[in-house]
Amino acid sequence: MTDQVNLKVLLEKANDVMTAFEEKKKAVEASPELKIIDELRVEFLGRKGHITGLMEHMKGLSKEERPEAGKSINVLRKSVEQTIETLKNKAENWQLEKHLSERNLDISLPADSSARKGSLHPVTLMRSALLEEFRALGFKVYDGPEVDLDQYNFSALNFKDDHPARDMQDTFFIKDRKSTVLRTHTSNIQIHAMLNEKPPIKMVAPGRTYRCDSDLTHTPMFHQIEAVVVDKDISMADMKGIVDKFLKAIFGSDLETRLRPSYFPFVEPGGEVDIQCTNCKGKGCRICSDTGWIEIGGLGMIHPNVFEAVDLDSESYTGFAFGFGIDRIAMMKYGLKDLRQLFEGDEAFLNQFPVQTNVNK
Ligand code: PHE
Repeated sequence: MTDQVNLKVLLEKANDVMTAFEEKKKAVEASPELKIIDELRVEFLGRKGHITGLMEHMKGLSKEERPEAGKSINVLRKSVEQTIETLKNKAENWQLEKHLSERNLDISLPADSSARKGSLHPVTLMRSALLEEFRALGFKVYDGPEVDLDQYNFSALNFKDDHPARDMQDTFFIKDRKSTVLRTHTSNIQIHAMLNEKPPIKMVAPGRTYRCDSDLTHTPMFHQIEAVVVDKDISMADMKGIVDKFLKAIFGSDLETRLRPSYFPFVEPGGEVDIQCTNCKGKGCRICSDTGWIEIGGLGMIHPNVFEAVDLDSESYTGFAFGFGIDRIAMMKYGLKDLRQLFEGDEAFLNQFPVQTNVNK
């Protein structure tokens, strides 16, 4: 038979395959391309490839000759496989480099002036404007946790254990950790500030707050800004003066404000601040429910129990706190008809706001 081979002939054939492969490899190395490398793989390792052909020939060998032939062919196959793998990696790197060098990127070119710059969110603008006014009044800016212990959000603020605000209905508790809440107001910062600072304290803290309710005028996440002042001889007159000055700085000097008595467990006396509705100038409209006034937030003189909770002597110190809704203030300042516009992410709405932060200038 013509294809009858013995060991010597087969080893010679294997040698020829090796030489042929080496030749082709050199050519591919000069300009490695994935397509050509794959052709090479098929030619040598494929079902009808040279190396498979050598294996076929082994059938004609005697039992004694086979192991040595098998070993040689295996070594050859492994070496070809490895070389093809290396060539593939080379080709990939080569292509990447070619692509990068052809891109011709000039990083010194001026930026495209027609690119969209975006704008700051109205709540961000409002927060910056509010902080600017507080800084001008000598307040230090504080930050506090949004996820806090019940103790800071409620207990230390003189909320009794059965106070309805702790109810599952309007508070987000953390599952399996009943002592941890998403803060329901920024008043938790009063406690953190009084524990960390010695009087005189004059600080302000803006931030996100959460309550488990959602309707026309309430969103589950909203923003508040809290102010705390503690020193000797701080009076309600100081509180009223600061609140009035601050709101006039934001809304203009002809703004009317009023204080109404109200209840919060951590202040005594406590109240709420209203500003004249900027939409109807006090005449009455849909936004102010025909009252002519818009509620901006709560305030009051710090309760002696709160001073005790933070180990401050309530005989020596007095202070006040107030917490205003940033979203409410933004709504009135920018003439929004619906609070929810702030959180809908509508680009057409958001693009109306400027990029700079000094909105009240
Ligand atoms: N934390 C109160 C609220 O969210 C507002 C408030 C702040 C009242 C400070 C009094 C003093 O309703």
